[in-house]
Amino acid sequence: MIFKRHIVTAALPYANGGLHIGHLAGCYLPADIYVRYLRSKGEDVLFVCGSDEHGVPITIKAKKEGITPLQVVDKYHKLMGDSFEGFGISFDIYSRTSSAVHEQTASDFFKTLYDKKIFTEEITQQYFDVKAGQFLADRYIVGTCPKCGNENAYGDQCENCGSTLSPTELINPRSTLSGEKPVLRDTRNWFLPLDKMQPGIETYIESHKDWKANVYGQCKSWLNQGLQARAMTRDLDWGVKVPVQGAEGKVLYVWFDAPIGYISATKDYFNRQTVKARKGSWELYWKDKETRLVHFIGKDNIVFHCIIFPAMLMAHGDYILADNVPANEFLNLEGNKISTSRNWAVWLHDYLSDFEGKQDVLRYMLCANAPETKDNDFTWKDFQARNNNELVAILGNFINRTLVLTNNYYSGKVPAVGELNEQDRLVLEEIRKFPKRISDSLDQFRFREALGELMNLARLGNKYLADNEPWKISESNPERVKTILNISLQVSANLSILMEPFLPFSAKKLCDMLNIDQLKWNDTARTDLMTADHQIGKVSLLYDKIEDEAVVVQIKKLEDAKKMNELSTLKQVSAAKADISFEDFSKIDIRIGTILEAERVPKTDKLLKLKIDTGIDVRTVVSGIAGFYDPAKIIGQQVSVLVNLAPRKIKGIESQGMILMGENLNAELCFVAPVKPVENGSNVS
Ligand code: 2FM
Ligand code: ZN
Repeated sequence: MIFKRHIVTAALPYANGGLHIGHLAGCYLPADIYVRYLRSKGEDVLFVCGSDEHGVPITIKAKKEGITPLQVVDKYHKLMGDSFEGFGISFDIYSRTSSAVHEQTASDFFKTLYDKKIFTEEITQQYFDVKAGQFLADRYIVGTCPKCGNENAYGDQCENCGSTLSPTELINPRSTLSGEKPVLRDTRNWFLPLDKMQPGIETYIESHKDWKANVYGQCKSWLNQGLQARAMTRDLDWGVKVPVQGAEGKVLYVWFDAPIGYISATKDYFNRQTVKARKGSWELYWKDKETRLVHFIGKDNIVFHCIIFPAMLMAHGDYILADNVPANEFLNLEGNKISTSRNWAVWLHDYLSDFEGKQDVLRYMLCANAPETKDNDFTWKDFQARNNNELVAILGNFINRTLVLTNNYYSGKVPAVGELNEQDRLVLEEIRKFPKRISDSLDQFRFREALGELMNLARLGNKYLADNEPWKISESNPERVKTILNISLQVSANLSILMEPFLPFSAKKLCDMLNIDQLKWNDTARTDLMTADHQIGKVSLLYDKIEDEAVVVQIKKLEDAKKMNELSTLKQVSAAKADISFEDFSKIDIRIGTILEAERVPKTDKLLKLKIDTGIDVRTVVSGIAGFYDPAKIIGQQVSVLVNLAPRKIKGIESQGMILMGENLNAELCFVAPVKPVENGSNVS
């Protein structure tokens, strides 16, 4: 289908921290390349994004920093906006979900679905933190992922295996507010009945077999598991208020409100245009079937953009659905998962100040190494090599040789082309093929491949110069040199157009050096862009080498972050207790014993009643380990028993001693046991 216009969205980042290279590589860079390419082709395109300012990630950050959620979003909205601008991410609008236009849009959207009786209203049991006095939605709760065993899975998602979860699925749930085990309490919420909507969604996904394999595959796996109704409201106080009676103290689920942010950002864009400059209305971009909607996201957002948001749009009825959702996989850093909390990241704002004027080097590196089909790794050594061996040695070198020779031989005036030989003709023919090759890759969201082709054009130029060696024949064959340089200048002008989506800062610099305006995609494939006698501009290097020292500094930063993490982990270990005398210590009698029987103590969560052979006798010990051990699995386990602790009654049972347990920083317990079996009754000293 031929579309009249495009709306391209990039995932709204949570305004709770800075942006790092993973964000850029996963979503914003490919989106920007794609949009710049469409604009260069003269397409009508609107590129929208903004900060995701609701949801638990924001309130958790506010608590941590001791400021209000509004202060958090103001601070990070600015930081993120500056980073995007610094890297030339060319949004038409960078809006925010705390704006009035968004609150209204999200609220109206919910109301429409509510009035259409789309939602089911259900009273369910949700976790409640008694100490903190609030329900624990999404990231307020962590626990063990039932799918992969990750012990720090969030209530809404496991970041280890990517599963979307609900808090009640977590094993050993605990509140991130107080660390306490939460209790279940009744609460009323509004659910989107995705189970009933599955056939419609299935038809939609099946009509998009052309989507990237990772995206289509994830959707299919969701559908195969069978969709389940999902609550679209939360018991929280930060967010868009649920606009119906009886919903006091509730807000819209952040994943209901955030994607509507794309629509409100579009409205925000049109509201800001002067009437004269207005090209149309926001509705044209969201409701007209001839508009193509494309969402750029990271892989953790696939279900929300391919299933839940389309389901919301279908239920509403007025909107178009995404035609494509080219999600990327994740970027790792020096072999480890990027982690904001562990500061294992390359922050964009840091890069901008450490590598001033080198935005395109990172853009190049992240595109050449993009996690398009699988997770990929970023290393600083690779970054340096890509710059020195590719940008400097291939692209920069070709441009520099061409322009310096033009200056030296013709005082910067473009020489006229003379008689063409076979190789000239071949090169001219090749130049004409590149735009289509690059377009074909970009049209299929194969950005790495497209960038590879761009570099092949620079390689072609280099080879042409190297084969013809104009510097050796400038005196013996001046006419030939004119032709060689004219053709090299045509390659340079084509490069300035084709590189713009990927390397916009370099394209601008190259245009300045060539003394031409930024030309458009449709001007490519022409081999007369640089006309005879045109005076080129001032010449300087397009790229500089990155020396070892610059990279060593960055690697050291990461090593420091690692050390800080280790240190802060150590800090959480409780301080040593006051000294005791050896005499006191020698009073303690600890023996190795074997568990003979184990059973749960009725009406308790934590307690097990154990029968232990201590070598001295067989005795009963009550121990608070039920949360960590299945009684059936610990029979025969050797343990350390404090045998001379005075007996005491626990839940009516006399406990004759205590077993020793190791406890990690997450308050998880494990037995203190000999590494190989020893006699029962052996002393522990
Ligand atoms: O994963 C995230 O960072 C989310 N804030 C993305 C939201 S995308 C859209 F729905 F707004
Ligand atoms: Zn998991």
